[in-house]
Formats: sequence, structure tokens, C-alpha cells
Amino acid sequence: MNRILVIDDDDQLRISFCKLLKEEKYAVVGAASGEAGIEIVRDESLDLVILDMRLPGMNGIETFKQIKQIDTKLPVIIVTAFGTTAIAIEATKMGAYDYVLKPFEVPEMLSLIKQAIEAGYCMRSPVEVDGVPGKLSGDAIIGQSKGMQNVYKSIGRVSQTDATVLIRGESGTGKELVARAVYQHGLRSDKSFLIINCVAIPENLLESELFGYEKGAFTGAAQRHIGKVEQANGGTVFLDEIGDMPLNIQAKILRLLQEKNIERLGGEETIPVDVRIIAATNKNLEQAILEEKFREDLYFRLKVVTIELPPLRNRPEDINGLVAYFMIKFSNELKVDNPGVQKEALPILNQYTWPGNIRELSNLIQKMLIFNRGAPISAIDLAPIFKKNETGNLPSQTGLNSVQEWVRTSLAQNSGKCSFDDFMDTLSGIVVAEALKKTNGNRSQAAKLLGVSRPTLHSKIDKYKIKLKTEVSG
Ligand SMILES: Nc1ncnc2c1ncn2[C@@H]1O[C@H](COP(=O)(O)OP(=O)(O)OP(=O)(O)O)[C@@H](O)[C@H]1O
Ligand SMILES: [Mg+2]
Repeated sequence: MNRILVIDDDDQLRISFCKLLKEEKYAVVGAASGEAGIEIVRDESLDLVILDMRLPGMNGIETFKQIKQIDTKLPVIIVTAFGTTAIAIEATKMGAYDYVLKPFEVPEMLSLIKQAIEAGYCMRSPVEVDGVPGKLSGDAIIGQSKGMQNVYKSIGRVSQTDATVLIRGESGTGKELVARAVYQHGLRSDKSFLIINCVAIPENLLESELFGYEKGAFTGAAQRHIGKVEQANGGTVFLDEIGDMPLNIQAKILRLLQEKNIERLGGEETIPVDVRIIAATNKNLEQAILEEKFREDLYFRLKVVTIELPPLRNRPEDINGLVAYFMIKFSNELKVDNPGVQKEALPILNQYTWPGNIRELSNLIQKMLIFNRGAPISAIDLAPIFKKNETGNLPSQTGLNSVQEWVRTSLAQNSGKCSFDDFMDTLSGIVVAEALKKTNGNRSQAAKLLGVSRPTLHSKIDKYKIKLKTEVSG
């Protein structure tokens, strides 16, 4: 359960806010002054501080500074009333996660709290490179394959530099995990690490989220806002899904990389910033350049140090280790016994192609632990899942896409002549031919494989005029 400290001298407000957070399943502790709050930060383990700026005794900004001295990575959300926003902005420049104006909207505040805790987790929870299943603290990058060894070497190589890093790989291959590892093993590991997901933030907000804005920059810009880049000054910014970044923002990122400065929206001032950029994408940037969706100059700037994450299907030797790791990790998290995986189930996991990569594997193990209720994972448990996947989620891999295409086109072209039986006959023919291919033309084995009698298979071969032996296997 995440633990939040609320520092506010207004008893009524603090108590009702704490109550609300408890209802949202947070563990909450309150403090009526900066001094009391600092004591708690020093003594207890926390995930977030929500700090009012106007406090009796030690003021908000001083309290903020001391909190950061005790724990630089503890996220702090500043709550500020009219008249103290300038100080709140100062605090944001010094690394406060964000600030909100009193009175605030509860749903927005709750969403900000979630984001801040997540950001704190990414900064604070260690990522062990080349982790060993069973010895767990935080997250680990698992895998002994050659592809992953190269990844570890790259992480090691870039750790002693401030170089910009581009992480590439299919969805679910661990790009975010590797970005965190690069940060944690880097020179700026004691500074902040902020993640900007270029797809998750609407295009019109992305620019102000990154670079901030001045009062009056657009309708609704009631005061200056500090963007994430400025806020991370001295630290690291992770630009996730950079392949989806709009072109005008790409230009500003290029400027940041080349000239190390930014301008807030609606501002004239050039603000020097010193941030390390880590970027990730699953997009084909070369193709995006051809389509004029990605700037070539930015691409060259980013790709100097590239870490390429191999898809899981290219390193099946890592699957067993990952399975073991997730079994331990999730049985701990879900507080269930680790039931293990039956030997016969492992080949199924090893032969599957994992289009969703490690995320898919991790989700599967979690699901299995919940549904199996303590029973070891067996081949029978896995069969329906992969069967479903193969027909539901894996069209391109199984060729179902083309089958669907074929059915669709036939239906579209044929006005009533294409009967259900015609479709089924064609499909039956394909199935029999494939089974014979697999058994190298051996009819008994093919019949067994398909679960039909030999005579039935013979009749099908005759019906569909399937050529045998060499022709089939060729
Ligand atoms: N080598 C690995 N060892 C252990 N866990 C891993 C590994 N790679 C990925 N994971 C886990 O798999 C999940 C997906 O990884 P992550 O979010 O880093 O992928 P991604 O490449 O950023 O995917 P996307 O492109 O969809 O954002 C996460 O829960 C991550 O912790
Ligand atoms: Mg990601």
C-alpha cells in the first residue's frame, strides 16, 4: 500500500483530505507543521508528500528543501493558495513533482497523486541488470541470451557518460525497464528522472508539459508553469515513444540537445537547462523519416548510442528464466504459494512466438497464478490460452489474416454462389494438405494428427485431389 504524508496546518482540510485518501486505499499520515512533517520524512518510509506552502513556523519552501535533503527522490506535490504560487514555482524548479492551486478538483488531484507515486517508484525502485531469479529487490532485467548480454554491455558502457541514449525494440521488450537501468547506473542517479510519454499526452498539451509556459501564453494560462524539462534540470528526462512526437516538438528537442536551452511557451527568455535525454521507440524511425514524420537531424543526434532490445522470439533460451522470475515475483506480490510449472508445459511456452514479448509472458504468469489457485501450471492450462491467442490475437502469424481476407473478398465478389460448404471444403483441403506436409506424406500419421480414421483421410485426399508424398512435402 502506498504511503502518503499530508502536511497542512488547516486541521479540517488535512483531516478530510486524509480521509479521502484512505478511501482511495492509500496509507496516510498527517502533519500540522513543516517541523512535524520533516520528522516523519526522516523516520518513516513514504511514497509521496503533499505539502501546503503556507505554514506556520518553518515555511513551505524551507520544508520542501529539507525534505529533499533527506530524500531527493521522494516526490512532493505542492498545494498552494492564491498569493504563494511564485514560491510553488520556485519549488517546482527545485524538483517538486508539480503544484496545484487550492481549492483543487479531487479527481485531478487523485490522478496527479498516481502519476507522482509512479514517477517516484521509477526513480527509487532499483533495476538489477542481469538479475537472478529468486534474489529479488525491486525489478530485474532477466535473460542470459547473447542479445541480452549485448544490452547489459551497452548499459554498462553508457553508464559512465552523459550521452543521449536511444532504446529501440518491439512493444513489451523492456524499453522502459532498460531506460530506468540506464538512469540508475548513470552519473545522474542521485538526481531526478522524469518520464514523458509522447503518445499518452495529447499533442496540444505535450509541448507545455515538456517546456512549460508563461502567464497568458494561451487562454487558461493563468500563471507561469514550469515544464518537465526545466524541472528535471540536472537530472534525466525519458522521452518514451519518441517516434510519435509531433514534428514541431521534435525541433525543440533538437535545440535542447544541441544548444542546451529551452523557451517556455509564450516566453522570450532563453532558459539554459542541463538534462540527459533517454529516448525510446518501437517505431521504424527510418521509415518515419521517409514519410517526413520524423526529423532526420534529430534521428542522427539520437542514434549515436542505440540499445536494441531483441524480441523474445529471437531469444527463446531466456523464456524459462523469465517464467521462473515472474513466478517468484508475482507469487510474492499476490501473496500466494509459488506452484511452479510442470515440465511438460515448458515446451509450449518455449515454442510460442510471444508477439507481445515479455509483457505478454508476464501477464500470462500473473493470470495463471490467480486462476490456478496453487496448482502447478500444466500443459492443459496453457492449451486453451494459446489456442485462443492463435485464432484471436495472432492473425498475421497464423495466416488467419489471409484467410479472413480470402473469405471477405469471396463474399464481396460472389453474389450468392459462395456457400458455407464451399468455404469449408476449401479449408478442409488446406488442413489435410498441411497435415500431410507435416507428416511427410505419411497418411497414418496424418490421420492420427487430425484425429480422423485412415479411410476418412483417404476420402478427403480423393475429394480434394491432394497430391501425395514428394509433391506435398515439397
Ligand atoms: N528482460 C526482462 N526481465 C524482466 N522483466 C522484463 C524484461 N523486459 C521487460 N520486462 C517487464 O515486461 C513489462 C514490459 O516492459 P516495458 O514496459 O519496459 O516494455 P516496453 O518495451 O517499454 O513496451 P512498450 O513499447 O509497449 O511501451 C514490464 O513489466 C517489464 O518490467
Ligand atoms: Mg514502454
